[in-house]
Amino acid sequence: MGVTVKVPATSANMGSGYDSIGIALDLYNVITMEESDHIDISDVRDDNIPKDENNLIYQCAKKVYDICGKPLTGLKIVEDCAIPQTRGLGSSSACTVAGILGANALLGDPLSQENIIDLAASIEGHPDNSTPAILGGFCVALLEYGKVWSVRVPMNGTVDFITFIPDFELSTEKARAALPQKVAHHDAVFNLARAALLAGSLTTGKLENVGVAVGDCLHQPYRFDLIPGGRDVVHAAKCMGALGAFISGAGPSIIAVVDSADKTYLSRAQMYCEQNFPHWTPIRLTCDEVGATVTRF
Ligand code: HSE
Repeated sequence: MGVTVKVPATSANMGSGYDSIGIALDLYNVITMEESDHIDISDVRDDNIPKDENNLIYQCAKKVYDICGKPLTGLKIVEDCAIPQTRGLGSSSACTVAGILGANALLGDPLSQENIIDLAASIEGHPDNSTPAILGGFCVALLEYGKVWSVRVPMNGTVDFITFIPDFELSTEKARAALPQKVAHHDAVFNLARAALLAGSLTTGKLENVGVAVGDCLHQPYRFDLIPGGRDVVHAAKCMGALGAFISGAGPSIIAVVDSADKTYLSRAQMYCEQNFPHWTPIRLTCDEVGATVTRF
């Protein structure tokens, strides 16, 4: 028996919700996995991925086998990863979740969804990515002593997430190292008010609040210096009519939240980038409401 696991991209933080808010997006890593007597990893896209025991999907699968006390001789893994790596769109979370869910399915589902959510966040370190990758939708999530406390908040009103992806990478490690050890009390208050406003506004459909609600002074001001053109792209995204715009996750991608009724936003953004920001490519994504899925074959 084998399994196919499909895991969505995620955008963490959404501006104000640093390390706590994330949303699943309709761009996917699709992984097939079968037990084998050796490690056999391939990639349909010919991406440069580790093909040995250093492969993240394999490592996460092995962790599940270890937790369950089951020996693992090897796995045949075929990756079809559409989520670009190191762009702030949750590619490593998606691989972590795929490894855990795939192994769990191969073992006959010994882990509960709660176990899986906790394990994914503990391995990955970012519950704001791993939780929406599993549950889909818009989530608030935090990790405390190995347990994730989360809620999937229903969204009211339709928005597109126009995602400006640059042709350069930024590692999460580097983007986190740029942050200060301490922040001012008024900066903390600035963000917590906006993060709460963001969750409430998306739930109730009060989309006119989004521009203010994604405001942030905990991480973006420090990260923009690592993202050439990032500030300008956010500014342009808003000038073109977005409700709000922010760095996706740790960056470098930028996301503009756009009313779905604005049917020409993407083409305007494409034209603008071609002329002014040739290193950036905007694509239209929407919220994935399903989360990770597992199919047996
Ligand atoms: N909340 C995390 C960060 C997400 O901003 O560093 C990393 O993907």
